[in-house]
Amino acid sequence: MILVTGGAGYIGCILVPLLAEKGYSVRVFDKLFFGDGGLKNLGKRCEIVQGDLRDFDPQILDGVSAVIHLAGLSNDPTAEYNPTANHEMNTVATDVLARRCKERGIKRFSFATTCSIYDLGFAAEDFMRTEESEVEPRAAYATSNYEAERILLKLADDNFHPVLLRQGTVFGWSPRMRYDLVVNTMMKDALMKGALRVDCGGEMWRPLVDIEDVARAHIVCIEAPAEKIKGRIFNIVQKNYRILELAHHVKRALADLGVTDVTINVDYSHFNTRSYRVDGTLIRRELGFEPKIDVQTSVRNMLTQIRENKQMDFMNPRYYNIQWMSLLDEMEGVLKSIGGVFTL
Ligand SMILES: NC(=O)c1ccc[n+]([C@@H]2O[C@H](COP(=O)([O-])OP(=O)(O)OC[C@H]3O[C@@H](n4cnc5c(N)ncnc54)[C@H](O)[C@@H]3O)[C@@H](O)[C@H]2O)c1
Repeated sequence: MILVTGGAGYIGCILVPLLAEKGYSVRVFDKLFFGDGGLKNLGKRCEIVQGDLRDFDPQILDGVSAVIHLAGLSNDPTAEYNPTANHEMNTVATDVLARRCKERGIKRFSFATTCSIYDLGFAAEDFMRTEESEVEPRAAYATSNYEAERILLKLADDNFHPVLLRQGTVFGWSPRMRYDLVVNTMMKDALMKGALRVDCGGEMWRPLVDIEDVARAHIVCIEAPAEKIKGRIFNIVQKNYRILELAHHVKRALADLGVTDVTINVDYSHFNTRSYRVDGTLIRRELGFEPKIDVQTSVRNMLTQIRENKQMDFMNPRYYNIQWMSLLDEMEGVLKSIGGVFTL
């Protein structure tokens, strides 16, 4: 049985069905901030347990042979909205989960960390970051992930085999959709407004990767020989793209499916922006893992899925983590004082 924490989220909703297809039984442990609607029709192969990782019952580890750990606050705005909760969820909860796994002899632990750890802020030198590059994260989200990484690496030994996947920014369709990720945002803007806005001349580099490739990378890592992954860090990047280049890829992919009236508006007014490139070749060399899906293929797939699922409610706050979670936070206060909405 594989435990996927955060399995009802954007990446989880692609990873969990992939695991089930491969014949694994899956237990999802998730606070369900965004519900569990993205994990429909998985039948007996997937069990969903609602809960908060800051206070979990160790029984969720019963019968588990490997953990893929995706749960936590998953971007800068939500981390900055409540830095204390961010530290508790992303760092402390990862520490506790890893220790419980180790105590129970669960060796396999694949951690979804982030390439934003490499972001050195404004005016940083432009060079290709590798897993060996020195990092000095400052933002709350990157720092909490980096601290969790260091804890996991310290725990690594013959009885515990954590592997850290520093994921680039993810793109692609998921039944639990996010439009707060750069490619997905561009596609949504093109469909809604017929225009893409590119700031700072679009010069900035970003490491990117498709959602299915990320899911496959986690599976490859839990299946790889232990000596190849134990205590290792791997960047998961299909390619580094400049933002302006990305906009052209999105425009071209949409044109292939008949969306032709899209303009790209480039703003050159301010240049104080972040830019970083990340080398994704180590996992290719070490584990033979090759990301397969490029931006254009993924955008075409997204549009097809959106059309098939008639999912045109692009402004639904659920698709934007900070909007949705700050709304829930506000509602929590309101409901405490008024009780139910239509119920007593
Ligand atoms: N999406 C990306 O571009 C990207 C890039 C790099 C790294 N990551 C990392 O990958 C992981 C998954 O990202 P995602 O895009 O699927 O995010 P997501 O926000 O869609 O999903 C996160 C899931 O974790 C759950 N969760 C959050 N806090 C929890 C807690 N305390 N206890 C239990 N469950 C909790 C949420 O309910 C949600 O279902 C995250 O750790 C994120 O930091 C994502």
